Amino acid sequence: MSSGIGRTWRELRDRLAAAEIPTAALDAQLLVRHVLDLDATGLIASETDPFPGGKSEDLEALVLRRIAGEPIARILGVQEFYGLDFGLNAATLIPRPETEMLVDFGIEHLKSHPAPAVLDLGTGTGCIVLSLLANLPGARGWGVDISADALEQAQANAEALGLADRFVARHGSWFDPLGGEKFDLIVSNPPYIASATIETLDAGVKSFDPMAALDGGADGLGPYRIIAAKAREHLVAAGALALEIGFDQGHMVNELLSSAGFCEIAIAKDLAGHDRMVTARAPK
Ligand SMILES: C[S@@+](CC[C@H](N)C(=O)[O-])C[C@H]1O[C@@H](n2cnc3c(N)ncnc32)[C@H](O)[C@@H]1O
Repeated sequence: MSSGIGRTWRELRDRLAAAEIPTAALDAQLLVRHVLDLDATGLIASETDPFPGGKSEDLEALVLRRIAGEPIARILGVQEFYGLDFGLNAATLIPRPETEMLVDFGIEHLKSHPAPAVLDLGTGTGCIVLSLLANLPGARGWGVDISADALEQAQANAEALGLADRFVARHGSWFDPLGGEKFDLIVSNPPYIASATIETLDAGVKSFDPMAALDGGADGLGPYRIIAAKAREHLVAAGALALEIGFDQGHMVNELLSSAGFCEIAIAKDLAGHDRMVTARAPK
């Protein structure tokens, strides 16, 4: 006789906890819900229903991936960011909560502009630019990525969120796939880990996030050099730039932007107290 759905997820919770998965209870519920296509309320309502035997193998396959250290978002294929669901594929970084700072900045900067144009360099899932479009109804957004597969996911996310009519996906390196377009805001969360440091990252990051989303070259600053050198050509007068940075990169990125003629350069900290974002303005 098969056991009930409630018992199944609680046994799974204990198994994940024994495997030292820190979010064992939540992950157990999410995996059972995913396999049975249930929302949170549905899981509670199905507490005493029998777990369908035909789904046991599917659940076990996902559990083994989680125990092997694969992040839960990768297994479920979706991550929430700025209150929206973003689909993932193997070529996209899992959006991180600290990146929401760029969206907060963009909304604040553009909220009184009736029809702003926004460029997101290294768009991945499209989480930054699509969150901006969702909160700025008159805005149009461009997302650039070197990975065609990542861009395909960004386009699928734009469609799922009902934002595709205001989103343009461009494939290529940084500014290369753009013509003469000018933007009111350029945002980017580029790869910023120094190549030699990647080995030291958590297994869940280095084994499951795509290398093109992490590796910022020898000193981790390669993408910032390109962005600092070219961004002004693509910004309107007094247009803004917001870049996510590593905790120890604020000083160097500040120098790069100041040498490129940007003004009002500011470094903002994340909730953990680490430098996480540099913002600047093109001259008027
Ligand atoms: C750190 S991830 C950020 C993804 C997404 N914007 C986010 O915040 O979750 C960096 C992204 O930059 C892209 N990328 C790497 N090199 C690039 C290049 N030369 N030109 C454009 N995009 C690039 C990667 O494919 C990846 O999607």
